[in-house]
This record gives sequence, structure tokens and C-alpha cells, in this order.
Amino acid sequence: MTAFSVEAEICVLPLREINGPENIRICILPTEQLAARFAARSILNIPIQKPDAIITFATGNTMMKPYAELARLSHVYDVRWSTIRMNHLDEYGGSCNGDSESFARYLTERVITPLGIVNTHLINGRAKDLKQEAARYESLLHPADLMILGIGPGGHIGFNEPGTLFDSRTHVVQLSEETVARDITRGQTKRTHAITQGVGNILEAKQIYLIAYGIEKGRDLNTALYESIDPRCPASALRLPGIGPKVTLFIDQEAAASLNF
Ligand code: GLP
Repeated sequence: MTAFSVEAEICVLPLREINGPENIRICILPTEQLAARFAARSILNIPIQKPDAIITFATGNTMMKPYAELARLSHVYDVRWSTIRMNHLDEYGGSCNGDSESFARYLTERVITPLGIVNTHLINGRAKDLKQEAARYESLLHPADLMILGIGPGGHIGFNEPGTLFDSRTHVVQLSEETVARDITRGQTKRTHAITQGVGNILEAKQIYLIAYGIEKGRDLNTALYESIDPRCPASALRLPGIGPKVTLFIDQEAAASLNF
């Protein structure tokens, strides 16, 4: 099956497209489900157009629907992922592939296995020395063709918490109180540290797709898009000179309602 067929599927979705600040493309779909489907269709074009592309995958609740749709579509259109190189965006300290809450396990179950990705680089959150592990991971990275992001508390991208420098590379972070509280509310184990690709790694990707649904994430996005470009809101880095045209947002109507276009 060809990319043309995938594009044809895209056309039937009720898309509203807005040119955001710094030429960020904002794709608004009526519901979370449709935003996820549209994002998945866009991601699917990457392995079709560049079979050896490097893709960094985010994790989290936001990504569950797009990844499930990606697996379904890859099966329907027989899209091969075996020559794609997959990178890992972030991981909790103390967590590894075996833990139910680890992002490595999440990626294994929702991305690597269903898509049949062979060339994978995962962060080992269980490493004795997290700083050393961050340095090891950084040494493996090349700029991604596609960076898939969500957005978290305070406008964090990856685990780049408010205050993270825009030129940061893969590093160990102390999670913000807001992030720790969010995880506890979700019934997860209390984690205080993580390893994340830095804002600098994110910005050097050729394309950046950010997916978000709901009022709360819409508010963080609004700060990122329409308030000052400031490390206090890491996602505002997406508006730095030259970055905006590489960025596409896939959001639902609820998130869009929080944006002051
Ligand atoms: C998580 C991860 C990010 C993710 C963001 C949103 O904690 N650090 O990679 O994109 O926060 O997560 P969720 O979609 O679960 O709200």
C-alpha cells in the first residue's frame, strides 16, 4: 500500500487547521479519538517515506490511542518498521523494562512489539549511576527525523521540567512537585528522578509532533504558544527562531478551546 492511500484516509477526518505562532501548524480535531487517529496517520507517513528514519517516541496516557491506531494502520497498510531506528524520550529513575510503570516496558508493549521495530535504543532507568546512563544514552543519539511529544505539568516536554535550559542534552532530572503529585494521583509509585532527552535534543529533530487533549493540557499549551518564550515553560522552546515550522500540534477541540488564537 502506498503513502497516497494513507493520505486519502487523512482527508476524510474533520480537520480544522490553524497557522499558529512562528508558523506552528495546529491541527484541531473534534475529539480525542479523532486527534489520535489523525496523529497516527501522520506518523505513519514517516516509515513509508523514509524507511531508515530515526524516531523518538514519547510515552504516557496521551500516546496510548495514537500508538494503538498506528499498530492497526501498519497492519492494514502493511507498513514495515523493521528498518526504523527507535529512540526513547524519557524514563523514570529506578525503572526498567520489567517494571509495569516503566516507559521502556510501555514502548516495548505498545510500539516495539506491535510495529515490529528491531533497531531500538532504550534508557535503563535502573542503572546504578543515572548520570552515567544519561551520558551513555546521549552518545547514542543522532538528530531525530521525527520527535513525538506529549505535554505535561508546567508545560514539560519529555521530563524537561520548568526551568530546564533550552540547550540541555540528555540528563538526569529531579521531577517537579507538580509531576510527582500527578503521578501519585494516577496511583503510580512515587518517583522523584528521571532521565530525559534534553530540550536541545528535541529541538534538533527535523519534525516535531506534539499531541494533547483536554482543557488542562490546552492551558499549558496556551502558555507555551502565547506567553513569553521562557525556560519556565519548556514547551515554549518550540517557538524559538527556526523551530516553529518544524512543529505540528494534534489537539482535540477541548484543548483548542483553551487557546487564545
Ligand atoms: C510524562 C512524560 C512525557 C509525557 C508527558 C505527558 O510524564 N514525561 O513524555 O509526554 O508527561 O504525559 P501524559 O500523556 O501521561 O499526561
